Parts: sequence; structure tokens; C-alpha cells
Amino acid sequence: MVSDLNKTNMDRVITFKEVRKHRKQDSVWIVIHDEVYDVTAYLEEHPGGETILLDYAGEDGSQAFEDFGHSQDAREIMKKYKIGILAPEEKTSFLEECSKLKWAVLALAGAVVIGFALKKYLNK
Ligand code: HEM
Repeated sequence: MVSDLNKTNMDRVITFKEVRKHRKQDSVWIVIHDEVYDVTAYLEEHPGGETILLDYAGEDGSQAFEDFGHSQDAREIMKKYKIGILAPEEKTSFLEECSKLKWAVLALAGAVVIGFALKKYLNK
């Protein structure tokens, strides 16, 4: 289906809702850095064992993936299992940016309030 594809690189765009459906041994999808991997066929081969992959089935395993310090080899192997990318509004990086923006706006609002309070106080 054409609407399923990202026109620039033909990656399939997948929602988290869809990813969450693949959390059992017979179909295991994991999100790593906003990309979706179907690791079902890799479960038995994974040097870190299948249990850990099953722990993150249907979820975002980016942090855990980096925490275990995977090699360049591992990053090459995973390319084989990539099946798509997260929808842009669901990307972890996008959500993190939103969160940063929220704090920036709050800090700015706080500064304005303090500025007004100070002005009032000094003009007394
Ligand atoms: C497509 C995804 C993945 C691939 C291709 C992959 C591949 C590999 C490879 C090749 C190794 C051997 C060491 C190395 O070369 O770095 C490894 C080890 C390991 N991986 Fe993964 N991995 C994937 C996902 C994950 C995830 C999501 C986790 C954690 C939630 C994980 C946890 C581990 C652990 C604990 C080890 C063992 C480290 C050790 O004992 O030294 N892996 N993985």
C-alpha cells in the first residue's frame, strides 16, 4: 500500500500500536532508535540470548541496546532485520524534543513572571 510507505526512502511507516502486537515468541518486533526490527528469526542466534529480546518485544529497546554497548558488527547485523520506521509523531527523538520545548517555554514564562514581579517591587 503506497500510503504505508515513506516516499523518500520507501521505509514502511509503522505505529507503536502495531509494534505492541508483536511481543510473543512467534513474532517479535523491537524499536531501536526510531526504527522497527523484526527479530523473530534472530532470537536463537542473538549472542545475548533470546530472553532479553523477548523482554523488549513490542517495546522501545534503544536504551538497553546502547547500555549493553553493541559492537559495529551488531549494528551491521541488525540492518537485515529492519522492517520500517516509527511514524514521525511517535519517534522518541520527537517526543524528547517536545519535552525540551515544554521546559524552555516554562522557563521563559517563569522568567517573565519574575521580571514583572521585580519591576513592580522596584517601582514601589
Ligand atoms: C536487531 C537487534 C539486535 C542485534 C542485531 C543484536 C546483536 C548482538 C550481537 C552481535 C551481540 C554480540 C556482541 C556484539 O557484537 O556487540 C549481542 C550481544 C548482546 N545483546 Fe544484542 N542485539 C540486538 C538487540 C538487543 C537488545 C534490544 C538488547 C537488550 C535489550 C540486547 C542485549 C544484548 C546483550 C545483553 C548482549 C550480551 C553482551 C555480553 O554478554 O557481552 N541486544 N547482540
